[in-house]
Amino acid sequence: MKIVSVVGARPNFMKIAPFIRAIDKFNSGQRKIENILVHTGQHYDERMSEAFFRDLGIPEPEINLGIGSGTHAEQVGKTMIEFEKVLRQHNPDWVVVVGDVNATLACSVTAKKENVKVCHIEAGLRSGDMTMPEEINRLVTDRLSDLLLVPDEISLANLRAEGVPEKRMKLVGNIMIDTLNANIKEARRIKLIDIIENNFNHESFLSGYKEIGNKDRFVLLTLHRPSNVDKREVLEALVSFLTGEVVRAMKIIWPMHPRTENNLKEFGLWEKICCNSEIFVLHPVSYRESIRLNSLSKVVLTDSGGLQEECTVLGTPCITLRFNTERPVTLREHGGASVLTGSNIGAIKREFRKAVKAGQNPHRPLLWDGRTAMRCVKAIVNFRSM
Ligand code: UD1
Repeated sequence: MKIVSVVGARPNFMKIAPFIRAIDKFNSGQRKIENILVHTGQHYDERMSEAFFRDLGIPEPEINLGIGSGTHAEQVGKTMIEFEKVLRQHNPDWVVVVGDVNATLACSVTAKKENVKVCHIEAGLRSGDMTMPEEINRLVTDRLSDLLLVPDEISLANLRAEGVPEKRMKLVGNIMIDTLNANIKEARRIKLIDIIENNFNHESFLSGYKEIGNKDRFVLLTLHRPSNVDKREVLEALVSFLTGEVVRAMKIIWPMHPRTENNLKEFGLWEKICCNSEIFVLHPVSYRESIRLNSLSKVVLTDSGGLQEECTVLGTPCITLRFNTERPVTLREHGGASVLTGSNIGAIKREFRKAVKAGQNPHRPLLWDGRTAMRCVKAIVNFRSM
């Protein structure tokens, strides 16, 4: 069997790493799977891409399409043109896509048009928010996929409600948690001070960081969604909350996405953040550093889906700066660690005050056990279309 598996942007790398390892393990038996890894190149910086390949032990991709930055239509269009050539040259039995980024959409559409079977890992997530590019990517990918591998029971119910036949979907658990389990021990060895020194953005104010020992608690902040960082008024209100109430309570460690740094500068808000001695602006950190920061922090403020999931398993109170989520299994009402506040400052303040007092509350939804990747490989191998 020949598989082409696809990655494009940062959140894909944690999902493909265990899948590739599981193929290697499967290949130590009698049957052999040939896997060709394609990187579309949507994320290309050392810190957004290569560092993750090294950290997670992902082999060098056989093919890099070099798509780079651009509008959605540019990224999707260029990826389709280049990926079609890959499929014609290699003629695989399956294309495996993960998550919900532009690569996921572009490669699943191209594969179906070339009559290649598509498997989607992390299928069935729905935010119901059609202004999110990721929601469009998820809907189209799931509609086209032959095999839908689902992380949790809520996502399975979503697919049932959309009429997906039972034989095409399988609850396998969350593949991100395979990566979390595989890296948590190493992550716990990393010193906080080393993370700050290795990743410090030198435009930011550097003082007092040596006082943060591994025991002190801080807020871990990440922001990158267009809904939070692309509009001046939304970003300005968040900045004023952070530089007011939050820094009065605790220091902030902020590994900053390039989109957010660009926009803070464009909106004239950068000085307010980088000149604040209580805020440590870091470049994007590695996977293990992110896990370490999460496990040491008192509260996580984020708009990232992956962090919501990691907070649930690690137990860190998580304020999700979104009005909806495609991952309700991570919400407190389902046993998780996360609460939705959107960009509503009143709601963020209320939840922040509660979270500062709350303790850690680790929780694992069904099959978030670190063994999802092998279930994925077996589901593909055992797939029967009729
Ligand atoms: C993408 C994904 C999003 C995911 C996020 C994680 C889509 C639609 N969105 O959003 O789901 O949560 O990645 O990071 O696929 N840039 C760099 N270096 C890079 C990559 C990007 O500087 O290596 C900058 C560019 O200025 C670019 C901007 O970041 O314009 C945004 O990158 P882009 O890939 O368009 O989307 P993300 O916001 O990263």
